[in-house]
Amino acid sequence: MLNKSKIIAHRGASKYAPENTIAAFKKAMELGSDGIELDVQLSSDGHIVVIHDEKLERTSNGSGLVKDKTLKELRELDFGSWFSPEFKGETIPTLTEIMELLQDWEGLLNIEIKSGPVIYPEIEEKVVSLVNKFSNKNRVIISSFNHYSLVKIKKIDPDIKTGILYVAGLYEPWTYAKKLDAYAIHPLFYNIVPEVVFGCLENGISINTYTVDDPYMIKRISEIGVQGIITNVPDVALNAIN
Ligand code: G3P
Ligand code: MG
Repeated sequence: MLNKSKIIAHRGASKYAPENTIAAFKKAMELGSDGIELDVQLSSDGHIVVIHDEKLERTSNGSGLVKDKTLKELRELDFGSWFSPEFKGETIPTLTEIMELLQDWEGLLNIEIKSGPVIYPEIEEKVVSLVNKFSNKNRVIISSFNHYSLVKIKKIDPDIKTGILYVAGLYEPWTYAKKLDAYAIHPLFYNIVPEVVFGCLENGISINTYTVDDPYMIKRISEIGVQGIITNVPDVALNAIN
C-alpha cells in the first residue's frame, strides 16, 4: 500500500485568499494542508520577498518590477484588494516572516526561487542562509525552473533538499535528478505517467507535481503514487484522496 500523497497549497490556499500572503498561508494550514508552496524574489535592497510575478501589477496596487523597489516601498502596497475587498491591506510578506509563522507547523515548506527572466544576485545564498536559521530545515524543499540555481543551492549546502521544476515530458527524469543531486522532481501534472512514477520510486527520487485542481485528476495522480500534489484547492484535494 503506497503512502497517501501530501497536499501542498499552491501560493497558499490561493483559491480562497490572495496568493502568497499571510492570509493564504493561514488558510492553507486551517484547511489541513500537508504543505505550502510559495515563490520568492528579491527587493532592490536585497530582502527576500514572497511574490510570484516579477511585476507588481497583477497582485497589488503598485506598478513596475519587484527588483526595483525597496522593501519599504513594497510594504506600502496593498496585495489583497485585487482579490477581494475583504483582504484590503494585505501586505507582501518577507520569507523571514513566513518561516517564523510556520516554525512550529509540522507541514512541508516548498520555497520556489524565481530566477528568470529576472536574475537576482545571490538569492540562493540568502535563501539557504535563512533556511539554516530555522529548525524545520528537513521539512523545506527549494525548487526552481532555473536548474543552475538548484545546483548552486547544493554547492552552498548539500543537506538542503531541492526539487526540479519542469514542464516538458522529460525522458527518465530520475537520471537527471540524480545528476543534480536533487531530492525530488516537480513536473507539470501532464507528465505523471506510471513509467515516470515507478522509475523515480526505484531510484529514490520523490515527485511533487503541480498544479492540479480537478478532484478527479487529483485522485488519479495520487493513486499512481506521487509523494506530493501542489494545488490551489487543498480542501478539495484532501477530500478527493481520502
Ligand atoms: O512550484 C509549482 C508551481 O508554483 C510552479 O509554477 O508559475 O505557479 O510558480 P508557478
Ligand atoms: Mg510557484
